[in-house]
Amino acid sequence: MRIKSIEQVKNLANKNVLVRVDFNVPVKNGKVLDNYKIKKSLATIKFLVEKRAKVILVSHLGRPEGVDKKLSLKPVAAELGKFLQKNVKLFDVLDLKKTKTQIDKLFPSTVVMLENIRFVKGEPENSEKLAKELAGLAEIFVMDGFAVAHRHAASVTGIAKHLPAYAGLLLEEEIEGLNRSLQSPKKPFVVMLGGVKMETKIPVLKNLLKKANYILVGGGILSTYLWAKGYKVGGSLIDKNFKKEILRYCSKRKVILPVDVIVGTKDGKLARATEIKKLNLKNKELAVYDIGPRTIKLFSRYIKKANTLVWNGAMGYFEQHPYEYGTYSVARLLAARAKGRAFGITGGGETMEVLKKLHLIGDIDMASTGGGSMLEYLSGKKLPGIEVLKR
Ligand code: 3PG
Repeated sequence: MRIKSIEQVKNLANKNVLVRVDFNVPVKNGKVLDNYKIKKSLATIKFLVEKRAKVILVSHLGRPEGVDKKLSLKPVAAELGKFLQKNVKLFDVLDLKKTKTQIDKLFPSTVVMLENIRFVKGEPENSEKLAKELAGLAEIFVMDGFAVAHRHAASVTGIAKHLPAYAGLLLEEEIEGLNRSLQSPKKPFVVMLGGVKMETKIPVLKNLLKKANYILVGGGILSTYLWAKGYKVGGSLIDKNFKKEILRYCSKRKVILPVDVIVGTKDGKLARATEIKKLNLKNKELAVYDIGPRTIKLFSRYIKKANTLVWNGAMGYFEQHPYEYGTYSVARLLAARAKGRAFGITGGGETMEVLKKLHLIGDIDMASTGGGSMLEYLSGKKLPGIEVLKR
């Protein structure tokens, strides 16, 4: 069943529309450090403003347990106000009755925000009471926070049961991008998978092995595999809990393993390339910190021929020079091939950090706002925040 888009709603004028966005962005000393998620939400907000709806935005910030001033959405409202060139008022989230009377007085095309929804205990618990109270604020619900679509929460799935519920434009863009890669990828379909959280990467590896032509691996997946194969990997980041899975999946023909790696000390002072077959790190002070130059060349051959590309996760400890080259190379190769010759998508915390640093986000067809949610989608899981729109 298809989900309904907010664009299908005929008359939005003067309607109270509650939009679940994901404005979970880094904030320091009252300043938003990265406004990508806010920018990506503008399409839906502007669409509703143009249609003369009253827009009530709901988001979480961080993981507070009760009210925590440091996690107020005030700086986020200010940042959004800059984009919209209007003042975005922040309404109380603890007294929703009072907030309702304020909302009723709003003029069409006004945009307001509720304070951090996770200040209310019932939010992560998906309390029915809170879901109904939130629904009472509006006539229409729009789910636009792809990054939080994997959470069962009152403002994500709970509220959708009490109001006509639609997908926002960002949510649609993300689903379309992911489906284009997963359901009808133009071959060759090449995946670059790195990073360290094995519990999130193994399900992605398993699912994408069914769909991709090649999976190029690096990061913690690689060091865990090397350890599982019996290589001495020194102090490398490995996860012993996934020995069986990593041996099973990484020995598949589709998985392209590095031929060399960069080993060295954590501070990067002592670093050298070594062929995998010669890897023998007995000293815990040394570790595998990146893929090597011959591997970059090998990976580039696959990336340059790909017609569909998905990248998630760093190839190494890119935060420390000189271990950034593997990850930066993959980023540049993806950016060079995407938006034109191949359809390229990416997402995830560190992946996005690298693309931002290299100013390459604009060169990717779809840079997801989702971290955990994107990985769950790539794993083939159904996201509750999307499923609930299919009723
Ligand atoms: C994210 O930033 O990945 C989302 O906002 C989800 O946040 P959470 O993991 O705290 O639910």
